[in-house]
Amino acid sequence: MTQYSDKLYKAVNKSTIEISSIDQLNSEWLNSTLDKYTFCIIKGLIDPDVIRSAKEKIKEYHSPDNERPATGEHPDELMNNFQKLSIGGAEHSGVYRPRCMRTFYNPVWAEDIFGLRESFKITAQVRNILYGFDKDYAVDEVGNEFWTASRIHNYPSGGGFLVSHKDNIVPTVQKKSKLSNQYFQPVILMSKKGTDQDCDFKTGGGFFEVFGERFFYEEVCELGDIIIYSGETIHGVADIDLEKPFDSRKADGRFAGFVTLYKKFNKKKELNDFVEPPKNKVVI
Ligand SMILES: [Fe+2]
Repeated sequence: MTQYSDKLYKAVNKSTIEISSIDQLNSEWLNSTLDKYTFCIIKGLIDPDVIRSAKEKIKEYHSPDNERPATGEHPDELMNNFQKLSIGGAEHSGVYRPRCMRTFYNPVWAEDIFGLRESFKITAQVRNILYGFDKDYAVDEVGNEFWTASRIHNYPSGGGFLVSHKDNIVPTVQKKSKLSNQYFQPVILMSKKGTDQDCDFKTGGGFFEVFGERFFYEEVCELGDIIIYSGETIHGVADIDLEKPFDSRKADGRFAGFVTLYKKFNKKKELNDFVEPPKNKVVI
Protein backbone atom coordinates (compact mmCIF):
# COMPACT_ATOMS: atom_id res chain seq x y z
CA MET A 1 0.00 0.00 0.00
CA THR A 2 1.21 3.47 -0.88
CA GLN A 3 2.42 5.69 1.96
CA TYR A 4 1.03 9.19 1.88
CA SER A 5 2.01 12.34 3.75
CA ASP A 6 0.41 13.15 7.12
CA LYS A 7 -1.13 16.16 5.44
CA LEU A 8 -2.95 13.91 2.97
CA TYR A 9 -4.14 11.44 5.64
CA LYS A 10 -5.48 14.40 7.67
CA ALA A 11 -7.28 15.75 4.59
CA VAL A 12 -8.85 12.32 4.00
CA ASN A 13 -10.13 12.31 7.60
CA LYS A 14 -11.49 15.84 7.37
CA SER A 15 -13.17 15.28 4.01
CA THR A 16 -14.89 11.98 4.91
CA ILE A 17 -18.47 11.86 6.16
CA GLU A 18 -20.68 8.91 7.13
CA ILE A 19 -24.45 9.34 6.77
CA SER A 20 -27.38 6.93 6.53
CA SER A 21 -29.71 8.97 4.32
CA ILE A 22 -29.38 11.49 1.50
CA ASP A 23 -31.39 13.98 3.59
CA GLN A 24 -28.43 14.16 6.00
CA LEU A 25 -26.15 15.50 3.26
CA ASN A 26 -25.48 19.15 3.92
CA SER A 27 -24.67 21.14 0.77
CA GLU A 28 -22.67 23.71 2.75
CA TRP A 29 -20.43 21.00 4.18
CA LEU A 30 -20.07 19.48 0.73
CA ASN A 31 -19.11 22.71 -1.00
CA SER A 32 -16.79 23.99 1.71
CA THR A 33 -15.01 20.61 1.89
CA LEU A 34 -14.53 20.51 -1.88
CA ASP A 35 -13.32 24.12 -1.87
CA LYS A 36 -10.76 23.32 0.79
CA TYR A 37 -9.54 19.85 -0.20
CA THR A 38 -10.80 19.39 -3.84
CA PHE A 39 -12.28 15.99 -2.88
CA CYS A 40 -14.55 14.28 -0.39
CA ILE A 41 -15.72 10.78 0.55
CA ILE A 42 -19.32 9.96 1.47
CA LYS A 43 -19.90 6.68 3.31
CA GLY A 44 -23.09 4.89 4.30
CA LEU A 45 -25.43 5.62 1.38
CA ILE A 46 -24.77 2.46 -0.69
CA ASP A 47 -24.75 -1.07 0.74
CA PRO A 48 -21.48 -2.91 -0.10
CA ASP A 49 -23.53 -6.10 -0.69
CA VAL A 50 -25.36 -4.36 -3.55
CA ILE A 51 -21.97 -3.68 -5.17
CA ARG A 52 -20.74 -7.26 -4.61
CA SER A 53 -23.89 -8.64 -6.21
CA ALA A 54 -23.74 -6.13 -9.12
CA LYS A 55 -20.23 -7.26 -10.03
CA GLU A 56 -21.35 -10.89 -10.16
CA LYS A 57 -24.21 -9.87 -12.47
CA ILE A 58 -21.95 -7.79 -14.72
CA LYS A 59 -19.54 -10.71 -15.14
CA GLU A 60 -22.45 -13.00 -16.00
CA TYR A 61 -24.01 -10.46 -18.40
CA HIS A 62 -20.80 -9.56 -20.20
CA SER A 63 -20.34 -11.18 -23.57
CA PRO A 64 -17.51 -10.42 -25.98
CA ASP A 65 -20.04 -10.95 -28.80
CA ASN A 66 -22.09 -7.94 -27.58
CA GLU A 67 -19.08 -5.69 -27.30
CA ARG A 68 -19.42 -2.61 -29.49
CA PRO A 69 -16.41 -0.56 -30.62
CA ALA A 70 -15.19 2.71 -29.07
CA THR A 71 -17.36 4.90 -31.31
CA GLY A 72 -19.94 4.85 -34.12
CA GLU A 73 -23.11 4.17 -32.13
CA HIS A 74 -26.21 6.37 -32.38
CA PRO A 75 -26.62 8.54 -29.23
CA ASP A 76 -29.97 6.86 -28.52
CA GLU A 77 -28.19 3.52 -28.06
CA LEU A 78 -26.39 4.84 -24.96
CA MET A 79 -29.78 5.57 -23.43
CA ASN A 80 -30.36 1.86 -23.02
CA ASN A 81 -28.32 -1.07 -21.73
CA PHE A 82 -25.26 -1.00 -23.97
CA GLN A 83 -21.74 -2.38 -23.77
CA LYS A 84 -18.59 -1.09 -25.45
CA LEU A 85 -14.84 -1.70 -25.37
CA SER A 86 -12.69 1.41 -25.91
CA ILE A 87 -9.06 0.90 -26.81
CA GLY A 88 -7.01 3.69 -28.35
CA GLY A 89 -6.41 7.43 -28.17
CA ALA A 90 -10.13 8.43 -28.26
CA GLU A 91 -9.30 11.42 -30.47
CA HIS A 92 -12.81 11.19 -31.96
CA SER A 93 -14.10 12.65 -28.66
CA GLY A 94 -12.20 15.89 -29.19
CA VAL A 95 -9.14 15.23 -27.05
CA TYR A 96 -6.34 12.70 -27.22
CA ARG A 97 -6.99 10.55 -24.15
CA PRO A 98 -5.57 7.02 -24.41
CA ARG A 99 -7.40 4.25 -22.60
CA CYS A 100 -8.26 0.57 -22.39
CA MET A 101 -11.66 0.16 -20.76
CA ARG A 102 -15.17 -1.20 -21.07
CA THR A 103 -18.34 0.76 -20.42
CA PHE A 104 -21.68 -0.76 -19.45
CA TYR A 105 -24.33 1.94 -19.95
CA ASN A 106 -27.23 1.21 -17.61
CA PRO A 107 -29.72 4.16 -17.45
CA VAL A 108 -32.31 4.08 -14.67
CA TRP A 109 -35.21 3.67 -17.16
CA ALA A 110 -33.59 0.59 -18.75
CA GLU A 111 -33.97 -2.89 -17.29
CA ASP A 112 -32.17 -2.98 -13.93
CA ILE A 113 -29.91 -5.87 -14.94
CA PHE A 114 -27.23 -5.21 -12.30
CA GLY A 115 -29.45 -4.20 -9.35
CA LEU A 116 -27.80 -0.76 -9.23
CA ARG A 117 -30.83 1.46 -9.91
CA GLU A 118 -31.17 2.81 -6.35
CA SER A 119 -27.41 3.29 -6.01
CA PHE A 120 -27.33 5.31 -9.23
CA LYS A 121 -30.33 7.42 -8.16
CA ILE A 122 -28.79 8.25 -4.77
CA THR A 123 -25.48 9.17 -6.38
CA ALA A 124 -27.29 11.38 -8.95
CA GLN A 125 -29.02 13.12 -6.02
CA VAL A 126 -25.63 13.70 -4.39
CA ARG A 127 -24.47 15.27 -7.68
CA ASN A 128 -27.58 17.49 -7.75
CA ILE A 129 -27.11 18.68 -4.16
CA LEU A 130 -23.51 19.48 -5.01
CA TYR A 131 -24.49 21.53 -8.08
CA GLY A 132 -27.31 23.26 -6.22
CA PHE A 133 -29.97 21.70 -8.48
CA ASP A 134 -33.33 20.33 -7.45
CA LYS A 135 -32.54 17.00 -5.73
CA ASP A 136 -34.38 15.00 -8.40
CA TYR A 137 -33.15 16.89 -11.47
CA ALA A 138 -32.63 14.53 -14.44
CA VAL A 139 -32.66 11.49 -12.14
CA ASP A 140 -35.64 9.55 -13.50
CA GLU A 141 -36.02 11.24 -16.87
CA VAL A 142 -34.32 13.64 -19.28
CA GLY A 143 -34.34 17.10 -17.68
CA ASN A 144 -33.69 20.25 -19.69
CA GLU A 145 -31.83 18.30 -22.44
CA PHE A 146 -29.58 16.53 -19.93
CA TRP A 147 -29.82 12.98 -18.66
CA THR A 148 -27.99 10.85 -16.12
CA ALA A 149 -25.62 8.57 -18.02
CA SER A 150 -25.48 5.97 -15.25
CA ARG A 151 -22.87 3.44 -16.21
CA ILE A 152 -20.07 1.20 -15.04
CA HIS A 153 -16.50 1.52 -16.21
CA ASN A 154 -14.46 -1.68 -16.24
CA TYR A 155 -10.67 -1.56 -16.52
CA PRO A 156 -9.58 -5.11 -17.31
CA SER A 157 -6.72 -6.96 -15.69
CA GLY A 158 -3.61 -7.05 -17.84
CA GLY A 159 -3.43 -3.35 -18.67
CA GLY A 160 -6.78 -1.56 -18.31
CA PHE A 161 -5.97 2.15 -17.90
CA LEU A 162 -7.01 5.75 -18.52
CA VAL A 163 -4.23 8.27 -19.07
CA SER A 164 -3.93 10.95 -16.39
CA HIS A 165 -5.84 14.07 -17.40
CA LYS A 166 -8.03 16.97 -16.35
CA ASP A 167 -11.66 16.90 -17.48
CA ASN A 168 -12.57 19.18 -20.33
CA ILE A 169 -15.18 17.48 -22.55
CA VAL A 170 -18.27 17.13 -20.32
CA PRO A 171 -17.49 20.43 -18.47
CA THR A 172 -17.26 22.24 -21.83
CA VAL A 173 -20.63 20.84 -22.95
CA GLN A 174 -22.20 21.71 -19.59
CA LYS A 175 -20.73 25.22 -19.62
CA LYS A 176 -21.74 25.96 -23.23
CA SER A 177 -25.25 24.73 -22.41
CA LYS A 178 -25.29 27.05 -19.36
CA LEU A 179 -25.89 24.09 -17.04
CA SER A 180 -22.98 24.60 -14.68
CA ASN A 181 -19.60 26.30 -14.51
CA GLN A 182 -18.07 23.82 -12.10
CA TYR A 183 -17.44 20.16 -12.67
CA PHE A 184 -17.11 17.48 -10.04
CA GLN A 185 -17.21 13.78 -10.68
CA PRO A 186 -18.95 11.53 -8.12
CA VAL A 187 -17.66 7.97 -8.41
CA ILE A 188 -19.24 4.88 -6.83
CA LEU A 189 -16.40 2.76 -5.50
CA MET A 190 -16.95 -0.80 -6.77
CA SER A 191 -13.48 -2.34 -6.44
CA LYS A 192 -10.82 -2.30 -3.79
CA LYS A 193 -7.09 -2.54 -4.31
CA GLY A 194 -5.08 -5.09 -2.35
CA THR A 195 -5.42 -8.70 -1.34
CA ASP A 196 -8.53 -9.10 0.82
CA GLN A 197 -11.74 -10.67 -0.52
CA ASP A 198 -13.27 -7.38 -1.77
CA CYS A 199 -10.16 -6.57 -3.79
CA ASP A 200 -10.35 -6.93 -7.58
CA PHE A 201 -6.77 -5.91 -8.37
CA LYS A 202 -3.38 -5.55 -6.74
CA THR A 203 -1.56 -2.90 -8.77
CA GLY A 204 -2.60 0.36 -10.44
CA GLY A 205 -6.11 1.75 -9.92
CA GLY A 206 -8.09 4.97 -9.82
CA PHE A 207 -6.29 8.05 -8.54
CA PHE A 208 -6.44 11.80 -8.31
CA GLU A 209 -3.66 14.15 -7.33
CA VAL A 210 -3.78 16.20 -4.18
CA PHE A 211 -0.90 18.10 -2.51
CA GLY A 212 1.29 16.85 -5.38
CA GLU A 213 0.66 13.22 -4.38
CA ARG A 214 -1.11 10.59 -6.44
CA PHE A 215 -3.86 9.32 -4.15
CA PHE A 216 -5.10 5.80 -4.96
CA TYR A 217 -8.44 6.03 -3.17
CA GLU A 218 -9.28 2.32 -3.67
CA GLU A 219 -6.54 1.51 -1.14
CA VAL A 220 -8.41 3.23 1.68
CA CYS A 221 -12.10 3.40 0.72
CA GLU A 222 -14.79 0.71 1.00
CA LEU A 223 -17.24 -0.74 -1.53
CA GLY A 224 -20.22 1.61 -1.93
CA ASP A 225 -18.36 4.76 -0.85
CA ILE A 226 -19.03 7.77 -3.06
CA ILE A 227 -15.84 9.66 -3.91
CA ILE A 228 -16.13 13.16 -5.34
CA TYR A 229 -13.18 14.96 -6.89
CA SER A 230 -12.79 18.12 -8.90
CA GLY A 231 -12.45 17.62 -12.67
CA GLU A 232 -9.70 20.24 -12.46
CA THR A 233 -7.41 17.94 -10.49
CA ILE A 234 -5.26 15.52 -12.44
CA HIS A 235 -6.83 12.05 -12.31
CA GLY A 236 -6.88 8.77 -14.19
CA VAL A 237 -6.54 5.01 -13.84
CA ALA A 238 -3.05 3.50 -13.57
CA ASP A 239 -2.42 0.15 -15.35
CA ILE A 240 -4.45 -2.62 -13.71
CA ASP A 241 -2.50 -5.78 -12.81
CA LEU A 242 0.04 -5.79 -15.61
CA GLU A 243 1.42 -9.13 -14.45
CA LYS A 244 -1.84 -10.82 -15.47
CA PRO A 245 -2.73 -11.70 -19.09
CA PHE A 246 -5.29 -9.49 -20.83
CA ASP A 247 -8.34 -11.61 -21.76
CA SER A 248 -10.98 -9.81 -23.84
CA ARG A 249 -13.49 -12.62 -23.14
CA LYS A 250 -13.67 -11.73 -19.44
CA ALA A 251 -14.91 -8.66 -17.58
CA ASP A 252 -12.33 -8.78 -14.77
CA GLY A 253 -10.18 -6.17 -13.04
CA ARG A 254 -11.45 -2.84 -11.73
CA PHE A 255 -15.04 -1.51 -11.72
CA ALA A 256 -16.40 1.96 -10.90
CA GLY A 257 -19.85 3.58 -11.22
CA PHE A 258 -20.68 7.03 -12.67
CA VAL A 259 -23.73 9.31 -12.98
CA THR A 260 -22.44 12.02 -15.31
CA LEU A 261 -24.94 14.48 -16.82
CA TYR A 262 -24.82 13.95 -20.58
CA LYS A 263 -26.45 16.32 -23.03
CA LYS A 264 -29.11 14.54 -25.08
CA PHE A 265 -27.75 14.34 -28.61
CA ASN A 266 -29.98 13.44 -31.52
CA LYS A 267 -27.49 12.61 -34.22
CA LYS A 268 -24.11 10.95 -34.56
CA LYS A 269 -21.04 13.14 -33.89
CA GLU A 270 -23.15 15.99 -32.46
CA LEU A 271 -20.59 16.19 -29.65
CA ASN A 272 -18.25 17.78 -32.20
CA ASP A 273 -20.50 20.87 -32.24
CA PHE A 274 -19.39 21.42 -28.66
CA VAL A 275 -15.84 20.11 -28.65
CA GLU A 276 -13.63 20.68 -31.68
CA PRO A 277 -11.61 17.56 -32.49
CA PRO A 278 -7.87 18.26 -32.64
CA LYS A 279 -6.73 19.03 -36.20
CA ASN A 280 -3.21 18.44 -37.51
CA LYS A 281 -1.90 18.53 -33.99
CA VAL A 282 1.24 16.69 -33.04
CA VAL A 283 0.48 14.89 -29.82
CA ILE A 284 3.34 13.43 -27.87
FE1 LIG B 1 -11.88 12.50 -16.17
